[in-house]
This record gives sequence, structure tokens and C-alpha cells, in this order.
Amino acid sequence: MKLDKRLTKIESMVTQEYQHIWDCCCDHGLLGQALLERPVSAKVHFIDIVPNIMQQLEEKLQASFPLDTRTNASEAWQVYCMDVCLLPLHHLSGKHLLIIAGVGGDLMIKIINSICQQHPDANIDFLLCPVYHQYLLREQLIELEFSLYNEAIVVEKKHAYEILLVSRKTNNDYKVTNVGQEMWHGKTPQEVKVATDYLNKILLHYKRSSLNKASNVEHIIQAYEEVLIKAL
Ligand SMILES: C[S@@+](CC[C@H](N)C(=O)[O-])C[C@H]1O[C@@H](n2cnc3c(N)ncnc32)[C@H](O)[C@@H]1O
Repeated sequence: MKLDKRLTKIESMVTQEYQHIWDCCCDHGLLGQALLERPVSAKVHFIDIVPNIMQQLEEKLQASFPLDTRTNASEAWQVYCMDVCLLPLHHLSGKHLLIIAGVGGDLMIKIINSICQQHPDANIDFLLCPVYHQYLLREQLIELEFSLYNEAIVVEKKHAYEILLVSRKTNNDYKVTNVGQEMWHGKTPQEVKVATDYLNKILLHYKRSSLNKASNVEHIIQAYEEVLIKAL
């Protein structure tokens, strides 16, 4: 399965053991299929709201990862056509990873709030790669007292994306911050350049927004202006 740089980076951040990995808003399910190719025991769940895409995906999965008639394919994967907000976690025990990528941070907030309300005791990590509204999303993760395992910036086709691996288990030593922290530290000149370009782009965006007096983004600009990019 050939993944682009963004999906490759997201996949590389799946390093812990989970019983259930959910490729949420999966579209053609590329990420989930790459995870299925790994020699891991997690069941991969594919979920999207568009019926014909999910039907095609189910056929593809049957062909590439066929049903073992003795054990049943549902041991390895399952396809659901539904709203991610209604994720059927109730009957599944163990540790879950919900991967949500390629949708707006505002929709992610809705999904995360809904899942946390419906499954207050479930053991869930979230791997998030929002398109826009990163600041809003981070504020909501802070409000929910999520902890941060890992964060990164990745560039795909000239567009920079933030990726956050967070847990709903609170740990005060690993707090989510509103503009990010580790992701601004580059190990190579290339990583430093990516971080610098991304920061400049965000600042430009909010400074343009601030021309609209009703936008109320001054505190966001100030927070990003305090970011220190470091070469490690
Ligand atoms: C741009 S694709 C992202 C595909 C893939 N996750 C990625 O990052 O490349 C966005 C997908 O989200 C799905 N989607 C949007 N809202 C959804 C919801 N509430 N529940 C399930 N799927 C949703 C759309 O149908 C679409 O297939």
C-alpha cells in the first residue's frame, strides 16, 4: 500500500499496542489497509459516512485480506457506514486508537466530544491530523484534560499538517499546549525550515484575520509569536 507523506507519518506514529484501531472518516481506507498489512493483532475498523465508498472498500478488503472461513474476517477488520460521532464502542473491550485525519478541526471537536460523552470509561487514544482549526482543536483537548504523547508537522504537496497523538487519560506531565511545543524542535535543517515556514504561514493567516475587527484573534497571534523554533 503506497501512502503519501502525510499518511506515512501518521502510520509511523502508531507505535503502541491496541486491541482496536479505528480509521475514522476513512474514505478509501488507505491508512487502515496499511495498518492491516502490519504483523499486529489489532482489529482495524473502517468507518465513513458515504455508502458507495464503503461498499467498494468492503469489496477491496475481501479481495486483499480475505475472509478466513475458519476464524471469520471480522477478527481482522470490519467496515461501517455511519457517522463517526456514533461509533459503536460499547461492546468492545481493550484499548482503542481512533485515527481521524483529513477533516476539519471543528468536526474533530464534535466527534471527540460526542465519543467522550457516550463512552466516559473507554480506554481511548486519538491520533489526529486536522485540516484547519488546529488552535481550536488544541483548546478543546486542553479543556478535556487530554495528555499528549507525540506531535509532529508534516508537509504534503506544499501544505503543512499538524499530527497529534493524545490520550484522554489525564497526565499533568504531558499536557497538550495551545500552539504545540515539541513539534517546533527540528532535528535537521529541513525540519527547522518546515517548522519556520509553517509558523510564518499561521501568523500570516491570523494577522490577515485580525483585519476583521470582529475576529478576536489577538491572543492567538500573541501565543504563536511566543513560539521558539529550536534546532536540536
Ligand atoms: C478528505 S477524506 C479524508 C480521508 C482520509 N482520512 C485521509 O486523511 O486521507 C474525508 C472523509 O470524511 C468523511 N466524513 C466526513 N464527515 C464524517 C462523519 N461525520 N462520519 C463519517 N465520515 C465522515 C467523508 O465522507 C470523507 O470520505
